[in-house]
Amino acid sequence: MSLKITTNLVEESRISSFDPDNIVFGQLFSDHMFSCDYANGQWQNFRIDPFGKIPISPTLSALHYGQSIFEGMKAFKNTDGIVTLFRPLDNLARMNRSADRMCMPELTEEIFMEGLKALVMIDKDWIPTKLGSALYLRPFMFAMDDYLGVKPSETYKFMIYGCPVSAYYSNPLKVRIEEKYTRASKGGVGAAKCAGNYAASMYPTRLAQKDGFDQVLWTDGEHHQYLEETGTSNIFIVTKNTIYTPELNDSLLAGITRDSIIKLLRANGKEVIEKKVSVEELINWHKSGELTEMFVSGTAATVTNIQLFSYMGMSYQVNHTENLLSAEILREVRAMRALQIPDKFGWVSVISESEVSI
Ligand code: COI
Repeated sequence: MSLKITTNLVEESRISSFDPDNIVFGQLFSDHMFSCDYANGQWQNFRIDPFGKIPISPTLSALHYGQSIFEGMKAFKNTDGIVTLFRPLDNLARMNRSADRMCMPELTEEIFMEGLKALVMIDKDWIPTKLGSALYLRPFMFAMDDYLGVKPSETYKFMIYGCPVSAYYSNPLKVRIEEKYTRASKGGVGAAKCAGNYAASMYPTRLAQKDGFDQVLWTDGEHHQYLEETGTSNIFIVTKNTIYTPELNDSLLAGITRDSIIKLLRANGKEVIEKKVSVEELINWHKSGELTEMFVSGTAATVTNIQLFSYMGMSYQVNHTENLLSAEILREVRAMRALQIPDKFGWVSVISESEVSI
């Protein structure tokens, strides 16, 4: 541990208000938060403080012009009490790609990893152990300049907080394939994990939810012809012989869960094709009986089935078989994270007490 973190711990933990058997996603936050500031061209002021509000000015640049990016990741605790993270350096790499696209400063591995590890170990009692639950970690960065003009900020704050979670979706999803609105377009910021992408998706999602759907399944911004992602997750389409997922481009997010699933499926001898998948193809696979399963993948969403998709007012039920591929893959990822099976890809990062000095 070489990052000098000033640590100010809570006088009294709020852990007694946390019921691991009744977790509501995203409402209760662990005792502490990590923060640091970027000014004069460098990151400084590394701190762990009690979780709480931070003072900001009404002129805060992030509020007006949206230089704000984030990551989603999880810490797990297995039955032996061992704490793990899953592919944390891939989150850092994506965060730095987002930072680059949004003219924000990059983070070093030392700051990201040591901030994460310190926070997770200080709040390790907040990591739920029930199957399907975890301590969700939210690293995020935003522009701190107090300035009215439009230009990249010169000062930033990077923070991490934790939130014990269980499933984001509790039931298989009903999705509406989008025909009119666009989440992101070619040359835009769809591949960056920036706050604005989520703001852009809210209105069409609200319309879809009013009509009884859980999510919008986004299509390309130009012709609304090719499938992209749902806005909280990537998608997979399982046919009798092959599994398809939309190929990455600059309008969809390169999910780390997506990448893990592709690699695991291929290692299990399955054919996975990343390509442009058209709505027409999906409907044809459904009509011919080729389509056996559809699911979404994401850190929050984990692996959740799609039970129905709708396009041009027509609903298509996805007939799941008994042996769901999504269930198989989820079992394997969980077992790997819990250190019950070998981690053949080197994805699981164990955090030991000795690494964290507070
Ligand atoms: C995640 O899966 O971690 C995300 O960032 C998606 C968010 C909508 C919860």
